[in-house]
Amino acid sequence: MTNHGISSERAEALLAAAREAASRAYVPYSQFPVGAAVELEGGSIVTGCNVENASYPLTVCAERVAVATAVAAGHRHIRAVAVTAPKVASVTPCGGCRQVLSEFRSSDGSLWVILEGKTGPEIVSIDELLPRSFGPAQLDSASG
Ligand code: THU
Repeated sequence: MTNHGISSERAEALLAAAREAASRAYVPYSQFPVGAAVELEGGSIVTGCNVENASYPLTVCAERVAVATAVAAGHRHIRAVAVTAPKVASVTPCGGCRQVLSEFRSSDGSLWVILEGKTGPEIVSIDELLPRSFGPAQLDSASG
């Protein structure tokens, strides 16, 4: 899974969707908007923004909002996710979101993460961000 096959135009389009989602972030406590755009198998795009709460730990990250929205719409396989935080040059998904994204990999096991790079989109694999991950296969092997 070293070849992502994502054109720079598509990566830019996903980042643009993530930036637009970030404009809807509810961040009265951190003032740190984040936007995410997941591309599903089949090509549709679902976005999310972070949603904070006065009870701080109940905050939901942008990536998790996007994943939950996609799953609720009937999707299970994410090809790529673009993540952006307009207040910083580049942001990477937090550890919890890496785990949640990993659950919904593409059918071939890949999932590509598109970040804001210095000169354009930077594309990294979920395995680079979350090596030796825990996942459903381990639960399956325990029950067999
Ligand atoms: N945040 C995200 O939405 N995604 C991440 O991957 C990192 C953190 C949000 C959570 C909180 O609303 C704000 O950024 C500051 O932590």
